[in-house]
Amino acid sequence: MPDSELVSLRSVSKQFVDGNEVHTVLRDCELVMATGSSIALMGASGSGKSTLMNIIAGFEPLNSGDLILDGQETSQWRDSDWSEFRIHTLGVVFQQFNLLTPLNVRQNIAFPLSLAQKQWNGWCDYLVDTLGLSGLLDRHVAALSGGQQQRVAIARALASEPKLLLADEQRVIWMSNRQRGDAAFGRYYPAR
Ligand SMILES: Nc1ncnc2c1ncn2[C@@H]1O[C@H](COP(=O)(O)OP(=O)(O)OP(=O)(O)O)[C@@H](O)[C@H]1O
Ligand SMILES: [Mg+2]
Repeated sequence: MPDSELVSLRSVSKQFVDGNEVHTVLRDCELVMATGSSIALMGASGSGKSTLMNIIAGFEPLNSGDLILDGQETSQWRDSDWSEFRIHTLGVVFQQFNLLTPLNVRQNIAFPLSLAQKQWNGWCDYLVDTLGLSGLLDRHVAALSGGQQQRVAIARALASEPKLLLADEQRVIWMSNRQRGDAAFGRYYPAR
């Protein structure tokens, strides 16, 4: 397998069971994401975009097929392997942001850094500045507007410089955030 395959799904299927009914959300899904590339997944509401992201992040198990992440086959991964991958390789902007509500903005952004045993650095300052968060660092995230929360979620996902970024529903990014989000993403993942 070439080194450049960061994410590879081979014939992946996913069903959800709801009472007596089985819903097939993904059927024989094939996807390859090369290192340094960016891919937009587009589809109708309920078509399985978030489910696919959750499978790649290891939040949902797949029913059949293979998921290969950064050259490693994941079918035998334990929780500790998934933790390692999420801490050192993955950043996620969740559809509902999933910020840590007891914490303030600075603590939310610093959270992935502490897991990776990294320090707050110039890149974090750049993110805070670019995303317009300088005046909000001591505010509790529950007290922020939706657009402000989204910017914190982007900063948190990028803080530890992940090799793989999964961003759900960024197409509906608040218009006032679009320029800032593009600047933050663009610096880290420049167009190739
Ligand atoms: N945990 C779950 N249990 C049962 N069904 C689920 C679960 N998660 C998702 N589904 C179902 O899987 C299908 C795909 O959902 P998913 O959230 O992946 O869609 P989506 O493409 O992200 O939609 P949207 O654009 O509205 O966010 C839906 O029919 C949904 O009801
Ligand atoms: Mg979704």
